[in-house]
Amino acid sequence: MSAPTKAVERVVVWDLPTRIFHWLLATAFVIEWLTQDDARYLDFHVFFGYVIGGLIAFRVVWGFVGTRWARFTSFAYGPFAALRYLRDLLHRRQAHFVGHNPAGSWSIFIVLTLGALSVLSGVAALGGEKQQGPLQGLLTFAQGDALREVHSVLAWTMLAVVAVHILGVVVGSLSDRENLPAAMIGGRKRAPANEQSVSLAGNAAIALLVVLAGFAAWYFRGYLKAAREVPYFPFAGPVLAMDAQWQHECESCHLAYHPSLLPARSWQALLARQHDHFGEDLALDAQVVASLSSFAGAHSAEHAETPAAWKIASRTPAASTPLQITETPYWKRRHAEVGDADWQRVKKIDCGGCHLDAEQGTFEPGAIHIGKPPVNARSNDT
Ligand code: HEC
Ligand code: HEC
Repeated sequence: MSAPTKAVERVVVWDLPTRIFHWLLATAFVIEWLTQDDARYLDFHVFFGYVIGGLIAFRVVWGFVGTRWARFTSFAYGPFAALRYLRDLLHRRQAHFVGHNPAGSWSIFIVLTLGALSVLSGVAALGGEKQQGPLQGLLTFAQGDALREVHSVLAWTMLAVVAVHILGVVVGSLSDRENLPAAMIGGRKRAPANEQSVSLAGNAAIALLVVLAGFAAWYFRGYLKAAREVPYFPFAGPVLAMDAQWQHECESCHLAYHPSLLPARSWQALLARQHDHFGEDLALDAQVVASLSSFAGAHSAEHAETPAAWKIASRTPAASTPLQITETPYWKRRHAEVGDADWQRVKKIDCGGCHLDAEQGTFEPGAIHIGKPPVNARSNDT
């Protein structure tokens, strides 16, 4: 496997599918980091997660049926071989490898494993935390929440491995006087005279790209037929209950906030002090208060009818009774990064100014559009 150092010519070592896999994986990985933190980009984050999963599955198959240097058997080195290689590298007497060197081969196996685990934990977190994706309904909010932590640890570990990999490529390139990134683009590396170029495997490369493009078209089909009213992936869960009286009494001054946005004790407290409602007197009679209170109690945050409801309930300390949604720890955390310019355009309590599904109470990530007119205003202007 290790070839004599005397290099004679440059031959094609990396076939097209291997190169495409490498650079698409690297690109997708960067996109995952850029989109990890912002609910608005969750659709894209999930899409590129599936892409990473698909690429890894492809690479595993290609590791058995691909061209010579892409096959796992050509770089199945033991851990000691990798350590020996690193020691030799330190003493600048390492051998030249036509394919992957032993240290590089380990970074590949680790990245493939961590990548697969990251994708699986991500899909599981999505199924639990947001009740979306293939595992929708199979996991609870709490399990999803815990799996998200696992997902994040795996992603950070992978970032560390990628950093070591990049460092290894730089050191390897310098000490071996071979531009390894360029080789992963152009496919050619130094090889002894008797070494042949591998086939480019163009058909497999085209098949890979066609499958990815087809998947992208299918995944984003919702955007392709997006309408003014539904410019996003609609909420996947059941439609939330709304009470006509609740709507009637509350929506004259602001959005009729869905009861799932505060714990039951908060609604009780708000209704108990209805004569001093943020400086307004709601002047509701006792019977109306009783009926509003029973509706709020039946759909309060504790009932976890949406991912947001579960988060609001579980992140609000039992000892506190927030009177404002905008004072709950979850709300404050989720909006900590919204900029002043946006708050100038849309007031905090006008949820519909940034959440197109505010009236429905679902607060889906796909429905966040900062500064768009609220849904009810939009339906009037046509
Ligand atoms: C007469 C006008 C009026 C009516 C009717 C009204 N509210 Fe309010 N509400 C207000 C005002 C004013 C505020 C404070 C807005 C601010 O902080 O800028 C407020 C704030 C709130 C908040 C806190 C929002 C936040 O997170 O900051 C909640 C919750 C709320 N109202 C619930 C209700 C409910 C439930 C009803 C119906 C039973 C209702 N309101 C009816 C005027 C009204
Ligand atoms: C100025 C725009 C703006 C307003 C007004 C606003 N939000 Fe948001 N909201 C955002 C943005 C942006 C995010 C995504 C933040 C992130 O994930 O980084 C968000 C995220 C959320 C989330 C989490 C969604 C998810 O799936 O992670 C919930 C729930 C939410 N907002 C509820 C509300 C409620 C309730 C109100 C009204 C009381 C409100 N927001 C008002 C901009 C706004």
